[in-house]
Amino acid sequence: MEHSAAQQSLAPEAIRVDSHLDGTHGRSLADDVLDGLTRPFKELPPKHFYDARGAQLFDRICELPEYYPTRAERAILELRSQELAQLTGAVELVELGSGTAAKTRVLLDAMHAAGTLERYIPVDVTESMVRDCAEELTSEYPGLRVHGVIGDFERHLEHVPPALGPRIVAFLGGTIGNFPPGSRRRVLRQIAGLLGPEDYLLMGTDLVKDPRVLEAAYDDAQGVTAEFNRNVLRVLNRELRADFDPEDFDHVALFDPHNEWIEMRLRARREHTTVVRDLDLPVHFDAGEELRTEISAKFTPERLQGDLGAAGLELVRWLTDPDGLFALTLSQQQVR
Ligand SMILES: C[S@@+](CC[C@H](N)C(=O)[O-])C[C@H]1O[C@@H](n2cnc3c(N)ncnc32)[C@H](O)[C@@H]1O
Repeated sequence: MEHSAAQQSLAPEAIRVDSHLDGTHGRSLADDVLDGLTRPFKELPPKHFYDARGAQLFDRICELPEYYPTRAERAILELRSQELAQLTGAVELVELGSGTAAKTRVLLDAMHAAGTLERYIPVDVTESMVRDCAEELTSEYPGLRVHGVIGDFERHLEHVPPALGPRIVAFLGGTIGNFPPGSRRRVLRQIAGLLGPEDYLLMGTDLVKDPRVLEAAYDDAQGVTAEFNRNVLRVLNRELRADFDPEDFDHVALFDPHNEWIEMRLRARREHTTVVRDLDLPVHFDAGEELRTEISAKFTPERLQGDLGAAGLELVRWLTDPDGLFALTLSQQQVR
């Protein structure tokens, strides 16, 4: 059965979780597979990595010695959250692609210490993560209300509840880099639409640097990123009754110097045909053929300013970690 209205769980008063994915999410995966696996250069969008196992693998990636972005972004938050809380006066934090909200606590701590924190609104496609983090955060921050939105930030932003007061919309982890330039500006425009005159966007972006450092971050020695990459095939097997053998594919991560982005791909080890049974779709792979599973764009200050400007936003703060690896930008609606 398809639910057009939001489903609400029976939860304690401090917690409300609405789901907007029933029916439509399955369709979005099916549409993406039908579209992406019948292209001349096969491709799938990265949001489908994140079932519960994919989310756990991503958390392990964040701990890897090669994966500097999480540590760098956390370092910026630790150095600057107090200033951000005071400057914005935010009473609530909306977080897009919130995951396990590990770094978010640094920001919540600062808002709590400033005495302004009232509500946290995590938005993520992975239901278990939104629910778990709602439970954890309401017990960690007495008096905090959590309104979780299980949904796709490309399609469900209208379900983010109206603001209680000045808010920060956080989009951390460099997730904006997963979109190619045109879609990136579309997504940013949609996010900008969430901001009232007193609100701020706090966005994390990875910066252009030595390609060896970048490639190592996406191809770790322990093979956790490779397992994360192959996880999308397991999602397809389970959700659409496909018959991929993940071991038929090698993990590939390379830096594209022209576009200044990392590409993750899965390369077929042998010629074979797999069937996505729910779509009645045979998918042929030549030996060595690649399926692109993620791009992760790296930014320069100029590129970021251009993207923010195109979305009607203006930069308020540009913050980097002591090693200059990663940037957090605070921006606001342009004054017209
Ligand atoms: C790269 S992880 C970042 C997680 C966390 N924000 C961090 O900084 O560590 C991306 C997160 O965004 C979520 N996500 C990806 N695409 C999404 C979409 N279109 N709508 C909602 N959530 C999405 C994933 O489920 C995942 O939790």
